[in-house]
Amino acid sequence: MTSHTFTSSPPLKGRLTVPGDKSISHRSLMFAGLAVGESRITGLLEGEDVLATAAAMRKLGADIERLGDGTWVVYGAGLGSLLEPRTALDMGNSGTSTRLMMGLLASHAVSATFVGDASLSGRPMNRVIEPLSQMGASFEASSGGTLPCMVRGAFPAVPITYRLPVASAQVKSAVLIAGLNTPGITTVIEPVATRDHTERMLTGFGAQLEIGEDKGERVITIHGEADLTAMDVTVPGDPSSAAFFLVAASIIPGSDLVVENVGLNPTRAGIVTVLKQMGADIEELNAREVGGEPVADLRVRYAPLTGIDVDPAIVPSMVDEFPVLFVAAALAKGTTRCTGLEELRVKESDRIAVMAAALTAAGARVEEQEDGLTIYGTGGEPLNGTSGEPVKTHLDHRIAMSMAVAGLTSKNGVEVDDTAPIATSFPSFMELLEGASR
Ligand code: S3P
Repeated sequence: MTSHTFTSSPPLKGRLTVPGDKSISHRSLMFAGLAVGESRITGLLEGEDVLATAAAMRKLGADIERLGDGTWVVYGAGLGSLLEPRTALDMGNSGTSTRLMMGLLASHAVSATFVGDASLSGRPMNRVIEPLSQMGASFEASSGGTLPCMVRGAFPAVPITYRLPVASAQVKSAVLIAGLNTPGITTVIEPVATRDHTERMLTGFGAQLEIGEDKGERVITIHGEADLTAMDVTVPGDPSSAAFFLVAASIIPGSDLVVENVGLNPTRAGIVTVLKQMGADIEELNAREVGGEPVADLRVRYAPLTGIDVDPAIVPSMVDEFPVLFVAAALAKGTTRCTGLEELRVKESDRIAVMAAALTAAGARVEEQEDGLTIYGTGGEPLNGTSGEPVKTHLDHRIAMSMAVAGLTSKNGVEVDDTAPIATSFPSFMELLEGASR
């Protein structure tokens, strides 16, 4: 464990570029690894989670190479031709790699065992085991439907129509990816729209995928067995990583920062909407499209924030950004109420309980509910910070970075018990923070 104390920061200034989007990076390696031919990926996030996906795809037969200039070259194993991995697939901390790859294996006649770190080994896999079992795959999970978990894929698998019981892009993607190698039409019904990177990128790789609507629900169909054709992918910057700097610049007086190349897919950009509703000064510059995704540079200047009731309908488009939103709310004027957050309890950590404890330890006033958090803001007055005991991050990168941001406006600094998990999604976080606060 590497502890670190984050202390009161001068204004954040200048320009910085956040690394590639984690969700898009996982998918680019997986789909290129299934396509016939050579795909080149630029802007790939080289965080531990994505490297776990690369390692797993190599074990399944894809040829993946990193060039000196940071371009990743992938020669696909070919859908339907996956190799059986000889050793367990170690997915580290990454729920996305695990659930999406379970979908991939489910419709191939191979077996594999998934393992992960202590955080991932506590996370629920039944949400994918259930639909993938309906398709014909079999699973031997640890008690409570967790890792280690053995998967035995089925070929041919059976196409299903599956209505998502939880708003989860990972579950949606697992079923669609299983559908790629399943003869017939696999359908996923989404009562609430979640991030649509799988749909966008699979279409780019040549899959026959249709998106419709029925009684207000999104209906996605995929035709198998598909042939994916290699293509080049440019990965836009990750809005979930940008969020730490959007909040930090909003709450540190005098800040004026440009965060470049931020992906603003509407299924991901909820944090920008909510921060603006709280009074944040965020300007979208140079709007453009990168790799089939909307992107802009965001100029964010310090602005006093006001607490709001966050609309639960916006939760799926900012599900990973609540920890840092809680920090913004802790410095805002008045009360912020967040509800509809039950999914936060099954992320890399229980993000409601862990943030409630961490913010309280840093001097904020919060009240925890089963499905949310109420935060009583200081009105801009810095938090006291921690004294003696570091805050506990429970192997959760986003807790570590959120509490780092809290430390930047604190009187005594915030000590974070372990900054190592930051490398799962944002290896250059500390360096960029240092550069912006110089
Ligand atoms: C992800 C989906 C989200 C998100 C995760 C990445 C993805 O999870 O929390 O960090 O890439 O599909 P759920 O869709 O399961 O909520």
